[in-house]
Amino acid sequence: MQVASDSPSTFDLEAYSCQRRQLIEERLDEYLSERKPEKLWQAMRYSVLAGGKRLRALLAMAAAEAVYLTNTASRGVGSESAVWPTVVPLCCAIEMVHAMSLVHDDLPAMDNDDFRRGKPTNHKVFGEAVAILAGDALFIMANEILVTKTPPTVDREALIKVVAELAQAVGPEGMVAGQIYDLAFTGAAEKIEKKEIYPEDIAMIETIHKYKTAAFIAFSARAGARLAGASASQLAWFGQFAEILGLAFQVADDLLDCTGNMKDLGKTPGKDQAANKATWVTCFGMEAARAKLSELEDAGLTLLDNSDLEPSSRPVLQALLQYAIHRKS
Ligand code: IPE
Ligand code: IPE
Ligand code: MG
Ligand code: MG
Ligand code: MG
Repeated sequence: MQVASDSPSTFDLEAYSCQRRQLIEERLDEYLSERKPEKLWQAMRYSVLAGGKRLRALLAMAAAEAVYLTNTASRGVGSESAVWPTVVPLCCAIEMVHAMSLVHDDLPAMDNDDFRRGKPTNHKVFGEAVAILAGDALFIMANEILVTKTPPTVDREALIKVVAELAQAVGPEGMVAGQIYDLAFTGAAEKIEKKEIYPEDIAMIETIHKYKTAAFIAFSARAGARLAGASASQLAWFGQFAEILGLAFQVADDLLDCTGNMKDLGKTPGKDQAANKATWVTCFGMEAARAKLSELEDAGLTLLDNSDLEPSSRPVLQALLQYAIHRKS
């Protein structure tokens, strides 16, 4: 068994990502080719094609590749690129849903942010009404892409399960609930400061992060794995691994809000404190956030060590986990 190390991975994630990212970017550009009403499509393209790390799409692809390599290992067949056509539409759908979540998250009624991915936010450019509608359009179109562009070789029952899981991960039992909790717990950090409530009383913070961020990241990994033909135990493994990665991703985002800069983040730092948001850092402090990240890194690496996945498919998963934790942007 190949043992994952807890030192940062030496795997070249940039080299891994380059070709895959290009494939996804080209397909997104094609799916979102401009049509009428022009302002709507321009707004959709503005946020989806504005860059971004594409972490969720890459995770979906890495999960699909891991399942493909594991399940074909005994037959000695195949390069992982054989599974790309199966999951590229899913990867695009994921990035469209993610862009929707960012456009809506930035709205004045939510986080009221002016910059995203190094550019003015969608509503700053197109106005609030178009930003809301562009988000709606992206979400529903993502489902259409998933259903109509996923190749017919993919089992239809598996595809229906992916569509249902997407709704669960992003809807009122997932991200939308998380965003509601996020708003409801605004001000919690100040209450801790004034000793009106205590940190242990807001264990809820982990729930907020799981709902608003980890659920969709876990969906991304599970969906990639499922379309590649994952078994029930492989699906469960990916769900567990990616939930750890997803929670860590949001704790790292909370830390970066304090330690990062506009140039690297592409968004205004210091917003959480200013808006009185309940984040890992504002509620528990920077050291606690770092300790949580270290705990999550250990948990993810242990899971990886104990996985039954083909050894050659594991380094990228380790690299993605450690990137989510140690990233600067
Ligand atoms: C930002 O997501 C929203 C969070 C859940 C913290 P990303 O940091 O993945 O944003 P992009 O896609 O790289 O812009
Ligand atoms: C966003 O969390 C979670 C979403 C569902 C979009 P944040 O509000 O912390 O994300 P940023 O910091 O604006 O990217
Ligand atoms: Mg938010
Ligand atoms: Mg925000
Ligand atoms: Mg944030």
